[in-house]
Amino acid sequence: MAQLSPVRAGEPVLKGLKLLNRGKVRDTYDLGSGYLLSVATDAISIFDFVLNAKVPGKGMVLTAMTHFWMTKLEEAGICKTHLVAAGAAIDHYLPKEHQGNVDLQSRAMVVKQLQMAPVEFIARGYLTGTAFKEYQKTGKVFGVALPSDLQDGDKLPCVFDTPTTKEVEGHDIPMNSEEVRVKYPEETKTLLAVYEFVRKFAEEHGVIFADTKLEFGFDEKGNLVLGDEVATPDSSRFWSLMAWMAEKKKEKRKAPSPYDKQLVRNWGIEVGVNNLDPLSSEDVEKVHGMEVPKELITATSEMYRYIFWLLTGMRVDSYVASKLRVDREIPARKLAVVFGSRSDYAKAGVQLAVAQKYVGNRFLGKLDVHVLSCHRNPLYLVEFAGSGCLGADVVIAVGGKAFALPGVLDAHLHAEGFRIPVIGVALGEEGSEELLAAELSISQIPGQTVLMDEKAGVVYRNTDGLSRAIVRATFSELPPMLPRVEKKPEFFIKS
Ligand SMILES: Nc1ncnc2c1ncn2[C@@H]1O[C@H](COP(=O)(O)OP(=O)(O)OP(=O)(O)O)[C@@H](O)[C@H]1O
Ligand SMILES: [Mg+2]
Repeated sequence: MAQLSPVRAGEPVLKGLKLLNRGKVRDTYDLGSGYLLSVATDAISIFDFVLNAKVPGKGMVLTAMTHFWMTKLEEAGICKTHLVAAGAAIDHYLPKEHQGNVDLQSRAMVVKQLQMAPVEFIARGYLTGTAFKEYQKTGKVFGVALPSDLQDGDKLPCVFDTPTTKEVEGHDIPMNSEEVRVKYPEETKTLLAVYEFVRKFAEEHGVIFADTKLEFGFDEKGNLVLGDEVATPDSSRFWSLMAWMAEKKKEKRKAPSPYDKQLVRNWGIEVGVNNLDPLSSEDVEKVHGMEVPKELITATSEMYRYIFWLLTGMRVDSYVASKLRVDREIPARKLAVVFGSRSDYAKAGVQLAVAQKYVGNRFLGKLDVHVLSCHRNPLYLVEFAGSGCLGADVVIAVGGKAFALPGVLDAHLHAEGFRIPVIGVALGEEGSEELLAAELSISQIPGQTVLMDEKAGVVYRNTDGLSRAIVRATFSELPPMLPRVEKKPEFFIKS
């Protein structure tokens, strides 16, 4: 078994239940009668090392995401899955002392025990990661020659099945695809069908499903069943479709920034974890001694929630509360709507009441309305940002013409260390310069720090846009605040 980190090993064991296995991320208990309880913890592993850190909310996202896909795959008749119960329904299978445990209901699933195939079934539709490395060296991907002009993140000419062994300890080893196809034809066929199903669904939601790993097993009747986790940010690579399309236009391309565990792998590469050996106790100790940066943990936690929202259209807390019937509080957000001028307020302010009525007070903790001009009130703007926007969780900045307010407010918030997202709403007559200027002021900020409607790739506009921005701020997951490129000012430059 992989060497668990102190944080992972210290996870409490559920009393009175038989712990069958402590994986890198999941604890599996035997519930008897062929059922297992699979508990996804907040642990995180990269390059087959379990890090000494927890990513808050990660286990809940993994379970909810797997539930989402397994339900969809069964409905679509693509395959059988091991899912028996999730959320509040797991109580039927648990001894009394563990019933009504909201944390457990939010992260655990009851599954059918399977005879697992000792293979990680991997499908890749895009060239990146280890496959890209191999291609750079040999021009081939798992033995298949490819066109010579492919770059990191490019779409592959067809979907590749690139199975590996499932090592209990150390790195998984690539297997011969043809041999695996012959030995596991039904699994391979189902792998490709699942990949295609999720790929299409994700693309319709503005997301590229680059690659994924699945695990299969057989139930007691000899049926092939999809087990483990499905299309989660732990087992798959997800990218923004918009970002990928933007890369595609470039001559020198790279894979878009990850919406998944790759975020943590990239840190691991920076600090050299990828070159260490998980079978060496010295290296294991070294990795367990590494402190994972707090900002990375926060960004990863936010990213897992964000990709869940992009794909399902729901905040994970709402999904767990409404679909899985877990008695969870859905945290309400405090919104501030800031108009660039009184006349902007006169144009769009009326929409606030409409949107507020739609959103409802239960979900809208508080909605403050301000008028603040970036150009006329620069000192107040600094003060407003310094106060954390007077206690808001999300800010919607609304205005027309050259509309610097959202970008400048966001820059001050960032400089003051606040993680408060700013959504921009552009005002102006359809087709007018005023509207175009406001849209460009929002969409053309370097690093795209102000939030737009990222699924459609457009800036929120006018009263309808304001309504949608309020709904977005209330019900959606907002993208993580990733580290920004810092550039120092330069004075008296000698030419
Ligand atoms: N229905 C099932 N029946 C039996 N075993 C299962 C079933 N579903 C999943 N498993 C196994 O349960 C374990 C889940 O643990 P976990 O996800 O922590 O695994 P891991 O493979 O060690 O880590 P990682 O996912 O990071 O590679 C895996 O070994 C998986 O193969
Ligand atoms: Mg696993």
